Amino acid sequence: MTVFDRVLQEVDERCREQHIPMLGSEKAEFLSDLVQNAQPTLIVECGTAIGYSGLWMVAALRAVGEGSLLTVEIDTGRAQEAQENFRRANVADLIDSRIGDATEVLKAITEPVDFLLLDNNYSNYFPCFRAIESRLTDRATVVADNVGIGAAGMADYLNHVRSHYESRTHWFETDLPWVKRDAMEVTIYRKYR
Ligand SMILES: C[S@@+](CC[C@H](N)C(=O)[O-])C[C@H]1O[C@@H](n2cnc3c(N)ncnc32)[C@H](O)[C@@H]1O
Repeated sequence: MTVFDRVLQEVDERCREQHIPMLGSEKAEFLSDLVQNAQPTLIVECGTAIGYSGLWMVAALRAVGEGSLLTVEIDTGRAQEAQENFRRANVADLIDSRIGDATEVLKAITEPVDFLLLDNNYSNYFPCFRAIESRLTDRATVVADNVGIGAAGMADYLNHVRSHYESRTHWFETDLPWVKRDAMEVTIYRKYR
């Protein structure tokens, strides 16, 4: 087992033991395929937790040989733990890990963003989308997690992307202790319509 794989396994185990939210391997493998297909230059993630999804996404970036991740977490303790996990997994050079409210941090990003993962509190999905929208590239991939269990809390976001863009809901059976079935929304953002 590589150092990276050992850190990923430890992060998975710690999330399960401490009930720290994470994607789980079923959604993470799907997300990894999306990243490898999109070959993004810059991924922005809202909701780092302790870095499980971030580790999967940078592994996908390494597989395609380009790109970096900017990830935002509002909980200082979780963000610092994620930073330590990224360092131990030898991928910290690919990751800009920021501590703060994603709705504010995203407004300060000036680079083009071609992949966005929304995985923070549901009511902030639409504010985060709006905060980064002017930097999203045409045909950027926008992924929202928990659209099965959290649909009511993010109705404004889902109504917007489903009525304006090519957008599909993907359902997963998961083996997470806290949820057994959930979905992700994958939207192809169009700048010019
Ligand atoms: C579902 S977890 C993220 C899981 C992570 N993406 C993974 O799969 O490993 C959601 C995280 O979003 C964080 N969060 C909540 N509101 C936020 C905000 N406004 N800005 C940034 N992070 C936020 C929470 O503290 C929590 O750690």
